Amino acid sequence: MADILDLIKSRRTVKEFIPKFVSWENISRVLDAARHAPSCGNIQNWKFVVVMKPEQKQHLAELAYEQYEIVQAAVLIVVCAEPQKAERYYGEKGEQLYSIQNCAAAIQNMLLEAHSLGLAARWVGAFDEDSVRSVITAPAEIKIQAIIALGYAKEVPPKPPKYPLESLVYFGGWRNKLKDPAKYMNDIATILARKAQTGKEMVLKGMERFGERTKEIISKNE
Ligand SMILES: Cc1cc2nc3c(=O)[nH]c(=O)nc-3n(C[C@H](O)[C@H](O)[C@H](O)COP(=O)(O)O)c2cc1C
Repeated sequence: MADILDLIKSRRTVKEFIPKFVSWENISRVLDAARHAPSCGNIQNWKFVVVMKPEQKQHLAELAYEQYEIVQAAVLIVVCAEPQKAERYYGEKGEQLYSIQNCAAAIQNMLLEAHSLGLAARWVGAFDEDSVRSVITAPAEIKIQAIIALGYAKEVPPKPPKYPLESLVYFGGWRNKLKDPAKYMNDIATILARKAQTGKEMVLKGMERFGERTKEIISKNE
């Protein structure tokens, strides 16, 4: 089983898809991953509308400011929040903030499950919300959070740059940084790279000494 961190790091937003069928088993696994995400007070105030009809996909792509590449994806999953449900329990914060966070957690679960199944996905957040809501015939109180395009990649793009940990993490207070964050943050890759470098230097030094010693012996015997 792949390490979760490897999956997290190797997942990519895929722009283009090939027109290939995704099995129902895989689609349902991706949806199942969504429902296991954390949500405030476990209220699970989300719904997922699966869109497979070509003309409906075409319409959604148009409403996503003409991101037509997603039409080739086997499925579009429209992620919807039910903010009123969160508001009942948590007031304005539930409506404005927690509903969005709940759906974002569900989306990330879907993306990772898709990736682990060898599928490709694209999180589409740019769209005309009111029009998308009417395409999926959702009532006015539903907030459309995202359209997830799911399918097989035509091409997996290279990893975009990500900020290094040490530029993102402070300790105890704003802008408090450690001198050697890799040492404390268990950045195994950096630690191993350093060990490998030290090992390499030791071997080179050893070889150098061996060379010098050999020269000494030769010159003595001459
Ligand atoms: C809230 C949100 C909205 C996004 N909207 C779009 C979008 O409309 N179209 C798109 O192609 N990608 C969209 N993305 C994907 C980002 O462009 C992508 O995650 C980013 O470039 C980093 O690439 P990566 O996911 O491969 O690490 C969105 C991502 C998020 C989190």
